[in-house]
Amino acid sequence: MAARIVALANQKGGVGKTTTAINLAASLAMMEKMVLLVDFDPQGHSTTGLGFPKPDHRAGSYALMKGAPVQALTLSTEVPMLQVVPAGKDLAQLEFELFELPQLQELRKALEPVRDTYDYILIDSPPALGMITLNALTAADEVILPMPCEFFALDGLAELTETIRRIQGGPNPALKLGGILLTMAEERTNLGAAVAGEVRQAFPGKVFQTTIPRNIRLAEAPSHGKPVAFYDLKSKGAQAYLSLAREWLGLEIPAAQKELA
Ligand SMILES: Nc1ncnc2c1ncn2[C@@H]1O[C@H](COP(=O)(O)OP(=O)(O)O)[C@@H](O)[C@H]1O
Ligand SMILES: [Mg+2]
Repeated sequence: MAARIVALANQKGGVGKTTTAINLAASLAMMEKMVLLVDFDPQGHSTTGLGFPKPDHRAGSYALMKGAPVQALTLSTEVPMLQVVPAGKDLAQLEFELFELPQLQELRKALEPVRDTYDYILIDSPPALGMITLNALTAADEVILPMPCEFFALDGLAELTETIRRIQGGPNPALKLGGILLTMAEERTNLGAAVAGEVRQAFPGKVFQTTIPRNIRLAEAPSHGKPVAFYDLKSKGAQAYLSLAREWLGLEIPAAQKELA
C-alpha cells in the first residue's frame, strides 16, 4: 500500500513542528510502521535531533530536489523502522531556485519511487509559507498543524488555512487537514485551557484529542540525538507522542492524555 504522506506546517517558528516530526515519526515506527522522515527545513533540526550532522549539498533533501534518487539519501536511525532524509542550509537556495521557475510538484515526484516502501512519510517544513513549504503541501496527502497553547496561538492561522485552501484549489486538490495539534500545554493553567477551548471551538472536530504538554525531556532529547521515547520513555512528552500516534492510527488513547490543558 502507498505511504500516507504527511506535512507538518506552520509559518511560525518554535511551535513544535520539528519536535512533532521527530517524535510522531519515532512513535509510529515503534508501532511497527515503516516511516521516512524528510527534513525539508534548511535549519536541519530534524536531522541533528536524530543525531546526524547536517549534510552537504550532495547528501540531503537539496540533492533530492536536484534529482538524486531518494533511496540513496535515506539514513537509518536508532529506531529500527525509522529512516530520515537529512537537510542542511543549502536547502535554502531552493527557495530562490523554485521561485524563479515555479515548481510545486518536485517533492511529490521525488518521493514517488519510495511510496510503496513506507507506511508513512512525514515532512518537516520551515517556518515560512515560501516555495519549500508549498512543495511540502503539494507532496502531502494531509497536513498537521502544530500550535502552542498560547494567547496568540490563533494568530496567523487564517493565513495558513488560506494557503491550504489555495493548494487544494490548485496543485493538490486531495490535500486534507489531518488535524491541529495543541503543543506546549502547561498543565492545569487557565490560559492553556482557555486557548485549547478556543481552538477546539474554531475548528470543531479538527483538533487532536491528544495534547502535547510542555515537558523538559522533549526539549532535551534533540541534544542527545534521540527521539524522546529513546531518551526517557516514561516522560510525559514521550507518552503524549505515543498517544498521538495511537490516535492518528485510529486506536484507543489513554484517558490521561486527553485534553491535558
Ligand atoms: N512540548 C514541548 N515541551 C517543551 N519544549 C518543547 C516542546 N515542544 C517543542 N519544544 C522545544 O521548543 C523549541 C521549538 O520547538 P520546535 O519543535 O523546534 O519548533 P518548530 O520546528 O516549529 O520551530 C525547541 O527547542 C523544542 O525542543
Ligand atoms: Mg523546526
